[in-house]
Amino acid sequence: MLFRPSWEGGQYEGDETKRQDALRLAMQLGANYIDIELEVAHDFNSSISGSKPDNFKVIVSSHNFHNTPSAEAIANLVARIQASGADIVSIATTALDITDCARIFQIMVHSQVPIIGIVMGERGLISRLLSPKFGGYLTYGALEQGAISAPGQPTAKDLLDLYNFRLIRPDTKVYGIIGKPVGHSKSPLLFNASFKSVGLNAVYMHFLVDDVEKFFNTYSSIDFASGCSCTIPHKEVALKCMNEIDPIAKKIGAINNIVRRPDGTLMAYNTDYIGAISAIEDGLRELNGAVPAGTSPLSGKLFVVLGAGGAGKSLAYGGAQKGARVVVANRTFERAKELADKVGGQAMTLAEVEHFHPEEGMVLANTTSVGMKPNFDATPLAKHALKHYCLVFDAIYTPKDTRLLREARESGAVIVYGTEMLIRQGFEQYKNFTGLPAPEELFRQLMEKHA
Ligand SMILES: NC(=O)c1ccc[n+]([C@@H]2O[C@H](COP(=O)([O-])OP(=O)(O)OC[C@H]3O[C@@H](n4cnc5c(N)ncnc54)[C@H](OP(=O)(O)O)[C@@H]3O)[C@@H](O)[C@H]2O)c1
Repeated sequence: MLFRPSWEGGQYEGDETKRQDALRLAMQLGANYIDIELEVAHDFNSSISGSKPDNFKVIVSSHNFHNTPSAEAIANLVARIQASGADIVSIATTALDITDCARIFQIMVHSQVPIIGIVMGERGLISRLLSPKFGGYLTYGALEQGAISAPGQPTAKDLLDLYNFRLIRPDTKVYGIIGKPVGHSKSPLLFNASFKSVGLNAVYMHFLVDDVEKFFNTYSSIDFASGCSCTIPHKEVALKCMNEIDPIAKKIGAINNIVRRPDGTLMAYNTDYIGAISAIEDGLRELNGAVPAGTSPLSGKLFVVLGAGGAGKSLAYGGAQKGARVVVANRTFERAKELADKVGGQAMTLAEVEHFHPEEGMVLANTTSVGMKPNFDATPLAKHALKHYCLVFDAIYTPKDTRLLREARESGAVIVYGTEMLIRQGFEQYKNFTGLPAPEELFRQLMEKHA
């Protein structure tokens, strides 16, 4: 970067002859590679012709900081770079959309010469990570966070430790999380460590996606994308790209887990409800002991769901499916009513729940964001009302121990943490992706360490 001329997007503004002299000196002093820009490559290569050491290679590069041209234009560029005398062709373009990377992959896979193909920018991250899958000669990693030489470059440490770069091969299956934003997701850490722990030839990455339909139309092979987790803002839009949707996920109207089946079709699930409901069921088993096989401990229970947003829908539909008598209470009553009607339950306002205790031993699930960081002191239901519940679940996981859960514990209820929902929905995703049980202990350890 420091020695890349400013006319090619670098920082060097000095004399061009001196710059090229320095590159020639590097060659004489034993450098294995030098990188020269296409614009001056022909002259530079002529100047060293006949004096190149055996183990020395010239990378001829072209940078486009605006976009990624058509595959045909890139192919023409590759031919020009080859004709300049390059040992290794290097093309860096800019991603305006994650699907731009597909054109670079296509060129790399078919290249007859060693080639480096990089699509710069956050939307181009996959081009850097999947270089070994598509036959790239190398990828670039920053030595330190922030010390990048081009936009979107990951650190060498993340390449190796987070994305298992050294394990990626042409037949590696590619999974990832689609979202916008998505860079904060810890899912790659969980899944890549899990894949590695059982020797699965698979990698999981961040997919910064603007247009879900375009993404699935572009990346439509069995090994890319083999499966995706799906987060905000795509949980609803992604529905229309699916060939089949789990019936409950369809009712909830949101998916978070997509699997490409061997015939190439896409099947979607909502693992949030499975994660939350199974955690609540285990809590009830802990309290009441085993129930007959095939029966849910939630069956017949009065199940009060606070909130009617995305998580509220998951809990209400999940509870109803298990045979619970569902009550939905929400700040905006109309939303509570709409959801309650759909699950065959009763609707009320949050204020009404405070004095609602037709029976003892009810189950409470908070899915409102009341009590979430930074509002640690807030709680969706007054402490005096909690004594009527035998189990209280809070979907909030930041903080883990919310005021609601603390007060529920003090009132004698079994409590179930939001982190359980988060971890267990991950187990389900892993199971759907791989057909194998999730390495639960490893998931838990990683969540504990990094959440
Ligand atoms: N543990 C997990 O794996 C997991 C998974 C998903 C979500 N969550 C958590 O669940 C919570 C809700 O997420 P979501 O996706 O369902 O969000 P959402 O769709 O935006 O719904 C938010 C819900 O909270 C209610 N609400 C918001 N502010 C409120 C306030 N000041 N007083 C009373 N009610 C209020 C909303 O009521 P109105 O309808 O009146 O606006 C709505 O019912 C978040 O804390 C999220 O982190 C956890």
